Amino acid sequence: MNKPIYLDYNATTPIAPEVIEAMRPFIEEHFGNPSSSHWFGAEPKRAVEKAREQVAYLLQCASEEIIFTSGGTESNNHAIKGIALAMKDRGNHIITCAIEHPAVLEVCRALVEFGFETTVLPVNNEGLVNPDDVKTAIRAETVLITIMHANNEVGTIQPIAEIGEIARKHDIVMHTDAAQSVGKIPTQVDPLFVDLLSIAGHKLYAPKGVGALYVREPVNPVRFCHGAGQERGRRAGTENVALIVGLGRACESAAINLEQHSVEMRMLRDRLYDTLLHNVPELKRNGHPELTLPNTLNISFKGIEADKLLEKIADTVAISAGAACHSDTVHISHVLKAMAVEEEWAKGTLRFSVGRMTTTEQIDSAAEVVITAVKKLRG
Ligand SMILES: Cc1ncc(COP(=O)(O)O)c(C=O)c1O
Repeated sequence: MNKPIYLDYNATTPIAPEVIEAMRPFIEEHFGNPSSSHWFGAEPKRAVEKAREQVAYLLQCASEEIIFTSGGTESNNHAIKGIALAMKDRGNHIITCAIEHPAVLEVCRALVEFGFETTVLPVNNEGLVNPDDVKTAIRAETVLITIMHANNEVGTIQPIAEIGEIARKHDIVMHTDAAQSVGKIPTQVDPLFVDLLSIAGHKLYAPKGVGALYVREPVNPVRFCHGAGQERGRRAGTENVALIVGLGRACESAAINLEQHSVEMRMLRDRLYDTLLHNVPELKRNGHPELTLPNTLNISFKGIEADKLLEKIADTVAISAGAACHSDTVHISHVLKAMAVEEEWAKGTLRFSVGRMTTTEQIDSAAEVVITAVKKLRG
């Protein structure tokens, strides 16, 4: 059986061939501990520092401002808990938004149990946070604003620079979860006015289980993991050298090819959207039409149940649903709910996300399969 066409790059990406090649010597040969002062430690140590420079180059920051982590979830935990604890004597209020990934929302929720208060800002129908709402939510006790750069389900890109400027004016720390934007759109930290930024390796053709956190000097979150002094004392534990090398190489590719990949992905995404739009009645695109990731297409098919549609196409196309129906109940994603997508549309929502390995032929085949399945389900 042929493998289905993969259009779920926002869930995870394959590892790029050049990333595998860069990692190989650190799996097969250079096994040493980067902390060892003897010969075996030298090459792993050099490789980790090179990777740090590659990540820093993509974000246009200093390499000392990069901490390697186990992924987007850890980076978000480190940033949010670390700042909350470091600033607890100054205040206990955190501002976030309703369509954050659980790796932010659940961290904020957990902090409430330790006496912190959170304001969860609403978004409009296109998934955008209003910077005026941020201004209104600020209190004397506000110590952190954490708003995602781009949303994983609908692709909407938030006005992070504007929100970051507001934060800086009020002397509040600004964090952004950039797990979905790094490698797809520019993520230089200075123009974004952010103090902390989270990266997830497996969204940009590096392996799973590695990520990074940018921490602007002299911002100082409480250390995430106590132990030996790795990562300049901020995150103890022997470095996973091969994965870190992979992340570094993936960031190098992203920096070189960002514009070209973005144009190619947008072309494929738009081709898919146009084909669906011209062949399927009662279809609606969710998210902002322009302020959106170049690879993401979130579509609601009115009156259809997303998991029935996924079932029909499962052999040929791999995509994600925005809702799940279990017997009589429909579980609509918190993102679509926050955007006030009506239930009869929301329950038939699919997320298509294209990537570097997607071809025009795949897009055309996938569109055909989806069109046929929708027609069948609508009878
Ligand atoms: C926006 C966003 N943040 C955080 C994460 C979590 O990253 P990781 O899987 O590396 O822990 C994801 C992954 O889906 C994501 O899309």
